[in-house]
Amino acid sequence: MAERRATIWDLPIRLFHWGLVLCLAGSWYTAENDMLDQHVLFGYAALTLLLFRLVWGLVGSDTARFRSFVRGPAEAVAHLRALLRPGPLDAHAGHNPLGGYAVLGLLGLLAVQVGTGLFISGGDIFLVAGPLNGFVSGTLADRLATVHEISFALLQVLVVVHVLAIALYALVKRRNLVRPMLTGTGAIGADDPQPRIVSPLWALMIAALAAGSVWALSLLA
Ligand code: HEM
Ligand code: HEM
Repeated sequence: MAERRATIWDLPIRLFHWGLVLCLAGSWYTAENDMLDQHVLFGYAALTLLLFRLVWGLVGSDTARFRSFVRGPAEAVAHLRALLRPGPLDAHAGHNPLGGYAVLGLLGLLAVQVGTGLFISGGDIFLVAGPLNGFVSGTLADRLATVHEISFALLQVLVVVHVLAIALYALVKRRNLVRPMLTGTGAIGADDPQPRIVSPLWALMIAALAAGSVWALSLLA
């Protein structure tokens, strides 16, 4: 199919993506090295990004909207078939129907990760606790800490699958998905319309609201 170039990822989505990568790397490093004060800060930053992304999924640019990439299983299977067939893939503006599920999985696990973090405590040694730790019993907080640990393991698995999938697109289908996530520009079908891009000023406002809410939440700690 003939192709042309267009803006497929707006700046807010790209900042969200690479900011998230940074926050997860930071959360992981600080948890591994018993730097819980800093861990919680990375966690708050991840929560801000997540809140922003959930709202942007409703009101943001076309390719950011959940309704544009959350598809029924039949479409996901059809995409999988196309992937397994030899030869190139048609250009697609935004997440393909299979990738859409990966995005939901990543965002869902991230919500569990950050959500449980808010309730747990570093114990007597670290004296650091999530802002909602005081609202739950010690037993519940311990259980949520276990969930926090398990969800991180699952998140790591999903991130590996995510990066492997992107590598396979590049190697087998000769489609570079990383460049568009860096520059915003990628291929769409020659007859496809330019996806609608919402002003980044709206994104700034939503991000400020998200940051303000997380700051207010952090005051409960
Ligand atoms: C902590 C690690 C990572 C997490 C949690 C993560 C998460 C995500 C999420 C949630 C999306 C959906 C974007 C959106 O619509 O908001 C996404 C897309 C994407 N990510 Fe990552 N990512 C990670 C690492 C990486 C790395 C290391 C690369 C580069 C090799 C990468 C490349 C991409 C690309 C190219 C897309 C767009 C895929 C498409 O065209 O549909 N990601 N990622
Ligand atoms: C990006 C999101 C996050 C990731 C990837 C993450 C990851 C982790 C990991 C891997 C651990 C070590 C678990 C263990 O082996 O015991 C941990 C512990 C901890 N996290 Fe997070 N976390 C995140 C967000 C948060 C948030 C938002 C908070 C609170 C505001 C938080 C509070 C804590 C605390 C208090 C501990 C220590 C718990 C214990 O010692 O059992 N985390 N986190």
